[in-house]
Amino acid sequence: MKLFIDSANVEQIKKINNDYPVDGVTTNPSLIAKENRSLFPLIKEIRNIIGETKLLFVQTISVDSESIVNEALRIWEILNRNVIIKIPVTVEGIRAIGILKKHGVKTLATTVYTPMNAYIAAKAGADFVAPYVNRIENLNGNGTQVIKEIRQIFSNTKFSSEIISASFKNVQQIKAVSLSGSDGITVNPQLIEKFLEIPSIKEDVQQFNLDWETVRDEVDSN
Ligand code: E4P
Repeated sequence: MKLFIDSANVEQIKKINNDYPVDGVTTNPSLIAKENRSLFPLIKEIRNIIGETKLLFVQTISVDSESIVNEALRIWEILNRNVIIKIPVTVEGIRAIGILKKHGVKTLATTVYTPMNAYIAAKAGADFVAPYVNRIENLNGNGTQVIKEIRQIFSNTKFSSEIISASFKNVQQIKAVSLSGSDGITVNPQLIEKFLEIPSIKEDVQQFNLDWETVRDEVDSN
């Protein structure tokens, strides 16, 4: 299962990319806006940090399909065709995904709330779909169940689109989708760091070191 950093902050991306086995970075307009920087210099800096082989996702903000396609093609060319374009699953977005498929542009359908959102996006040609787990749960939905159903539909229909689950507020949600057939997860840096934040690990390591200290001289001299 792939792991992405859900952030546009270069310091956070540098740290997590260095410390953890991540597959790339997902951004969205809200994350970019927080950085208060121009889009392309920021995105290029993120590309430099993660290198050429990891995946980088950039979202369009246009509303009608023609503008979405033009915006996507611009991002695609400026990033040397090494970027995946995120497009919300509006009617216009779905049309744009279909057109971009014919141009050979890779897309991720975002703001996915239901299995049928994912179905229609995959059928239009999206390479990835991003169900919004926490936002689904804020609407009293069951994020994990949505992932399971998307997985089932993709298996039944033999779609090759990958499910990149997104929008998490806790590690329990992440574990639940990981057990439910998600191909990948995109997680904010603070939550990624929580994966290893178990006090017992630190205590165990301290105890191992203490125990080792008591015999080290003896072992070293043999
Ligand atoms: C990912 O690409 C999504 O845009 C993101 O995970 C949404 O997360 P949020 O619901 O925490 O804003």
